[in-house]
Amino acid sequence: MTNHDLSLTLETSDQWIRQRTGIMRRRIAAEDQSASTLAIPAGAAAIKEAGLVPEAVGLVIVASISPDQIMPATASRVAYALGAENAGAVDLSAGCSGFIYALAMATGLVESGIQEHVLVVGAEAISRILDWEDRSTAVLFGDAAGAVVVSATYGPNRILGLDMGNDGSGADLLQIPAGGSRLPATHATVDDGLHYLKMNGREVYRFATRVVPRSAAQILEHCGFSTSEVDLMVPHQANTRIIQAVARRLGIAWERVFTNLDEYGNTSCASIPLCLMEARARGLVYQGCRILLLGFGAGLSWGSCLLRWGDPVGVTTI
Ligand code: UT7
Repeated sequence: MTNHDLSLTLETSDQWIRQRTGIMRRRIAAEDQSASTLAIPAGAAAIKEAGLVPEAVGLVIVASISPDQIMPATASRVAYALGAENAGAVDLSAGCSGFIYALAMATGLVESGIQEHVLVVGAEAISRILDWEDRSTAVLFGDAAGAVVVSATYGPNRILGLDMGNDGSGADLLQIPAGGSRLPATHATVDDGLHYLKMNGREVYRFATRVVPRSAAQILEHCGFSTSEVDLMVPHQANTRIIQAVARRLGIAWERVFTNLDEYGNTSCASIPLCLMEARARGLVYQGCRILLLGFGAGLSWGSCLLRWGDPVGVTTI
């Protein structure tokens, strides 16, 4: 769906959307698709690339702000469809930071020896929770899924450090007001559109440009690296202006920043794995490459991760 397509039904323009966000088009899931049906091929591709069979996966984590249902976990359907019959399945909700949080959970489980291979999927069918009459949100988001496998290795390539934070005083700034136990769905909540995503964009913008550079600097310092040692920065793809501000504040050259939101819009939990996949296809993600992942979103939450990329070290079967 292009900006022009949106301008046919909303009071907006290609120029406004491009200038304010950097987005040119986004993908919209087909009617019979949902977060899980997008997650399944992404998960299958990640397992294949990792040289694994689905039975080797010990846990499937799906991070999403637009899960199939509140219950059961979207991960449950994903694991089943993948044939990950030895895997546990759990969803993770941390706004658009969800992928980093899921990566953190997977890392902890693998490093502690509890799991050997964890499938981490970011999957979104955000088009289903958007108010298509609200131009302040409808133009921003897109549907997508991306996945990685976190595996135990003995080499130097690993998650080097993680930083996670949250400021619940901003919980109302980005939310779906109704449909949970706080405000159960009723005819009235539906009539009022309270089952749609609502955002105070200006405040979230301010929050992101304040918090993300600080978190990134902290993680680099903790790991003992300078910004010049970051080979690739992969930020959550919410807005080009936010990404530029973060890169500028950190002193990371634009050539080392990966963006693709012009093509996909903000795909929330899917944005970082989607970037990793495309960057890898372009040769920007390679064995030993130091990557800085930066996420932020509803909560208001944030998360940063510094890692040294490792291609699969061998085939594991059980
Ligand atoms: O991934 C989750 C995290 N989410 C984000 O990171 C989003 C962060 N926020 C943003 O990216 C930006 O705040 C937005 C892109 C959402 C908005 O950009 P902005 O520069 O902050 O614009 P604004 O909200 O201050 O609105 C400026 C004007 C307003 O009109 P007035 O009040 O100045 O007359 C809006 O009503 O733009 C108007 N506007 C639009 N105009 C055309 C808002 N949306 C649109 C639109 N088309 N789609």
